[in-house]
Amino acid sequence: MTASDKNLKNDTISPDQVQYWDQEHLIHPWSDLTDDPPEMTQISSADGIYLIDGHGNKLIDGPGGMWCVNIGYGRREMADAIADQVMKMTYSSPWFTTNETSALLGKKISDKAPGDLNNVFFTNGGSDAVDTALRFVQYRNNIMGRPQKKTILCREKGYHGSSYLAASVSGTGREHDRRFMDTHRDLVSMLPNINPYLRPKGTSLEEWCDAKIKDMEDRIISVGAENIGCFIAEPVLASGGVIIPPPGYHKRTRELCRKYDIVYISDEIVTAFGRMGHWFASEAVFGIQPDIITCAKGLTSGYVPMGAAIISDSLFKGFDHIDGSHPFTNGYTYSGHPVAARAALTNMEIMEREGIMEHVREISPYFQDRLRQIGDKYDIIGDARGMGLLGCLEGLASTSASEEARLRIDSHFGQMMDEACEKRGLLVRPIINMCVFSPPLIITRDEIDKLFDILEEAIIEVQNTI
Ligand SMILES: Cc1ncc(COP(=O)(O)O)c(C=O)c1O
Repeated sequence: MTASDKNLKNDTISPDQVQYWDQEHLIHPWSDLTDDPPEMTQISSADGIYLIDGHGNKLIDGPGGMWCVNIGYGRREMADAIADQVMKMTYSSPWFTTNETSALLGKKISDKAPGDLNNVFFTNGGSDAVDTALRFVQYRNNIMGRPQKKTILCREKGYHGSSYLAASVSGTGREHDRRFMDTHRDLVSMLPNINPYLRPKGTSLEEWCDAKIKDMEDRIISVGAENIGCFIAEPVLASGGVIIPPPGYHKRTRELCRKYDIVYISDEIVTAFGRMGHWFASEAVFGIQPDIITCAKGLTSGYVPMGAAIISDSLFKGFDHIDGSHPFTNGYTYSGHPVAARAALTNMEIMEREGIMEHVREISPYFQDRLRQIGDKYDIIGDARGMGLLGCLEGLASTSASEEARLRIDSHFGQMMDEACEKRGLLVRPIINMCVFSPPLIITRDEIDKLFDILEEAIIEVQNTI
């Protein structure tokens, strides 16, 4: 009998036992499978913006799950709606049937989405929403007699998911991915990093924007617009380190797509459903109407998995003149799953009733103020950037720092911040030399203070240990 079997007989399972099973039996995303599995923080319960770890410690959930728990944890109303739907009708095949819950959700999302984005394809999560959008563009060009129009324009530091195709158009983590994970590079044309923080000294934001637009137009010309199917872009590059494109960038990339007949896909998997104070950020925040929007995460606030690709009416123009059968052979057993759809509808009702969009618009300037103050105050912070309820701190070694200190900051600043924050009651998400945070949208001003007070204490500790 192994240690794990023995404890199965106990009513209560100890944190050590969970740790053991985890390390013996679970493979976590993005882990190094050649190493012994590391110990991970164990979460045993959650409420509001807080997580409780296996030892009973209360932690502010800085990352909001993975940018997803928008309405916060432990909502009885969500549990009741999900349970009710399970009892009423757990499942109906999206191939042969429809049902009230998913049809109503399709209508509700179309009502909230900008312009003529009225056609919703439901998925299990974000990666397959991205796959669906990209495959729809391929399908459309195939049936419209231009099968060569396939290249996907995407960007360094963009993240679009972990399916083969979504990973192929992602530019984050390429330092790891490129070496050990295959991707479909032939389909992809990757544009250089647009992060304004990287612009050479003396370059204005306007000049940086001009340069990035030129990069894109030059690429379109060199690949040939007749060979390019779409451009996929997050409004804010979240996993790449909360990169905010320079002002005007979105409108100008949108114009380029119109000029060259390239479908514009806005990947709003992080930014939709309130993160920027609006249902969708593309139009309300950045003034553009994409051809397709992908969403997931905040759609159900992480209570159950669900994603969607929302496609404009315009992209269907001309379809009715095409003779014969042309099935769009893309679909998932759980497309429009009634339980997930009910969770999404209830999540949206809660957001409306509680005025969560208005709350985010009201509270985020304060969040951003505190973030910027940190950037100004500590030498070790190279950049403190964010928008809405998204934030990132990027570490930077001073010019007088030793080689060793520089290396530690460049490769471990995020990890060091994570450890220093966690012991003070805050989880952040470490990304190499950065840490990012996107708390549940219900966070109050006092809780924002608490979050940033802990971040400041952690920065001081990290600064002193370098
Ligand atoms: C912008 C963006 N697109 C796509 C995805 C992939 O979503 P999922 O992990 O639900 O497949 C993510 C996940 O973080 C994301 O941030």
